[in-house]
Amino acid sequence: MDQPRMNPHRDDQQAMMPLITHLPKVELHLHIEGSLEPELMFHMAERNAVALKYASADAVREAYHFDNLESFLEIYYEACGVLRHERDFYDLTTAYLQRAHAQHVVHTELFFDPQTHTERGVPFATVISGIRRALVEGERTYGITSRLIMCFLRHLSAEAALDTLAQALPYREWITAVGLDSYEVGHPPSLFTEVFARARQHGFLTVAHAGEEGPAEYIWQALNLLHVSRIDHGVRCLDDDALVHELVSRQVPLTVCPLSNVKLGVFARLEEHTLRRMLQRGLCVTVNSDDPAYFGGYISENFVAAQQALHLTAPEIYQLTRNAIQAAFLPEAEKQALLDKAAVYQQQVVP
Ligand code: ADE
Ligand code: ZN
Repeated sequence: MDQPRMNPHRDDQQAMMPLITHLPKVELHLHIEGSLEPELMFHMAERNAVALKYASADAVREAYHFDNLESFLEIYYEACGVLRHERDFYDLTTAYLQRAHAQHVVHTELFFDPQTHTERGVPFATVISGIRRALVEGERTYGITSRLIMCFLRHLSAEAALDTLAQALPYREWITAVGLDSYEVGHPPSLFTEVFARARQHGFLTVAHAGEEGPAEYIWQALNLLHVSRIDHGVRCLDDDALVHELVSRQVPLTVCPLSNVKLGVFARLEEHTLRRMLQRGLCVTVNSDDPAYFGGYISENFVAAQQALHLTAPEIYQLTRNAIQAAFLPEAEKQALLDKAAVYQQQVVP
């Protein structure tokens, strides 16, 4: 006798879990400082004698209720105060890579925010050396390839960004691209046209957070003034049909972060997220975790939650993965190898 079904999508969801878990994944939007789990934060606070205003890691987690990007960033920047020494940046990055490996991430492109640290007197060299040492070791240990993207904080001045670019030049070989993050509204990409032009002259690729909370106009500016290869977030593009047309025809990748968008109130509920609609319109959308220690999960949790809320199909999950591979800052041969790897897995799991 047939069992009554409580939820018509339950079988879909159960079939999708192993698929999402084991699929080789590429992450393109991950702030390394946003992977600082409360336990590690406490450990570093103790060894660096930094006072935290919370009594325990659980109390930290309980404080993670945000109204918007601004209320999140206040807590995020404060937590970064425990990162002082090369070893702290190494431990932070190593912890992320361990989690990424457990979730079958095969390639990751990390943001780091040097100004968050140099503003507090931590040398640029300390920050990048610790991250880099962990990435090199992560490739040796886990086979995870990586790229580093240096973000300018958009609430600081264009002059400060130029100074940061100058500090980065001795490490040119370690940094693939520059990006733009922090408080979006009121800090348009246009303010950073010159520093991005200089970065491109030095051979850096460019990306920018745009259309997370800010308007579609900021996405146009990122494309036309900063000449970005990818847009980070970009969910507000749906407000502007001409922009969607442009993004689709040029296949500009959008690094979407579903759990982040709900935690920061961009969408009230995951069920209202436009990720699936964006895919259906032909946008090159990818799924990412943004600041996983703050938003309730790493890349797999983002895939699982989005699949369940939006009833994504297996072909859509594959499309998201293929998009991320295509959008990665990797040579074509390496992208093809990853596409082949994903295709083999697809054939094995879905008959
Ligand atoms: N820095 C860390 N996470 C961010 C986000 N989601 N948006 C802008 N800046 C950030
Ligand atoms: Zn981000």
